[in-house]
Amino acid sequence: MLISEIIRKKRDGETLMPDEIGAMVTAISDGSASDAQVAAFGMAVFFQGMTPEEAAVLTLSMRDSGDVFHWDLPGPVVDKHSTGGVGDNVSLMLAPIVAACGGYVPMISGRGLGHTGGTLDKMDSIPGYISVPDNDTFRKVVAEVGCAIIGQTMKLAPADGRFYGIRDVTATVESIPLITASILSKKLAAGLDALVMDVKAGDGAFMETDEDAAALAASITKVAGEAGLRCHALITDMNQPLASAAGNALEVLNATDFLAGLHRDVRLERVVLSLAGEMLSITGLADTREQGFQRAQAALEGGEAAEVFGRMVTALGGPADFMDGPKRYLDEAPIQLPVDAPEAGHVSAIKTREIGLAVVELGGGRRRSEDEVDPAVGLTGLVDLGMMLEKGEPICTIHARDEAGFEAAKAQVLDAYSFGDAPEAIDPVMSIID
Ligand code: URA
Repeated sequence: MLISEIIRKKRDGETLMPDEIGAMVTAISDGSASDAQVAAFGMAVFFQGMTPEEAAVLTLSMRDSGDVFHWDLPGPVVDKHSTGGVGDNVSLMLAPIVAACGGYVPMISGRGLGHTGGTLDKMDSIPGYISVPDNDTFRKVVAEVGCAIIGQTMKLAPADGRFYGIRDVTATVESIPLITASILSKKLAAGLDALVMDVKAGDGAFMETDEDAAALAASITKVAGEAGLRCHALITDMNQPLASAAGNALEVLNATDFLAGLHRDVRLERVVLSLAGEMLSITGLADTREQGFQRAQAALEGGEAAEVFGRMVTALGGPADFMDGPKRYLDEAPIQLPVDAPEAGHVSAIKTREIGLAVVELGGGRRRSEDEVDPAVGLTGLVDLGMMLEKGEPICTIHARDEAGFEAAKAQVLDAYSFGDAPEAIDPVMSIID
């Protein structure tokens, strides 16, 4: 089958047959399609779209381009995937909560790129933590602890790896069928029984408008269903950072405080427990999402979730007593100074993306995929939309490695925050698609 004919057919808006999509994916995997052809295929799909059936075939073909995990565990295997946000440390709390309620969570996470943080970078700020263990260790930790937050240990959906890399540099990432197939091929390869998507909407998200977020959520849940994976999606608000901290070690500390009950950001708690409730109900560990929410809350309040997190950290090489005092183990930035409100008023808007970029500016994120991240830097005490500040009260504290980083981040924070009338408060869980 000629690759150029498959591209031509899609370019002209025709529906591809399963064998044509399969041939394209094989050619992406084995290198017989050139980068130019892969890029042209991506652009053709970008403009012409795909039917849900085509997207499902693309998903399954990419899943089968590499290894596929199979689990044999006494409970359901379930994961959550977020489309990425700022101050989004949900996974660190969610995985142990669901594990404490009887689920098994093999959470294969990514590193941060651009303005959004990556779960793997956060876990890497814990000394000794092996975030990319061998497969046997990964399996053992999931089976014994109930969850493991790790990076990719095996060749999961390698066709997507190549395709995504080419899409990233040819302006074809923002295609709903391609995003759908990309995310689901990896999740299906991880051998899940069920998946809950956290599709972020707003300024700090990949999908800025509610309509785009809803369209992505609908596409993912539909295609997942066609591919035999139970999947629900929550659309959650990203028009302000979710946690009051942004930055790797700082988000770990925010999460351990949350688990230990020392401090819980209200919107974060709502999102974490809602996702947990959905994961428990979609797997049958709870009868309804409301009951799942309550079970998750009980596991949090009872300390079981904190205990699971501590055991996971230890099992993956981190300190045995991490949860007894996480701060002792996390790198701290030498400069920790507040940014003062320039005027009195309610926080009327936050450019969330700008907050994420301030963390990158401090060295806590990547400009290029090969960059190292500084675990210690970032922002804490970020005030929420609607909060009333007097002139000179802190908007947040900047944790910087040096003076120049502090000044650059300060300018970005000041640019990101606007003061005036309080906006209408909204529920961070905007809708649920099942
Ligand atoms: N994340 C992915 O894994 N794939 C995409 O296409 C976009 C975001």
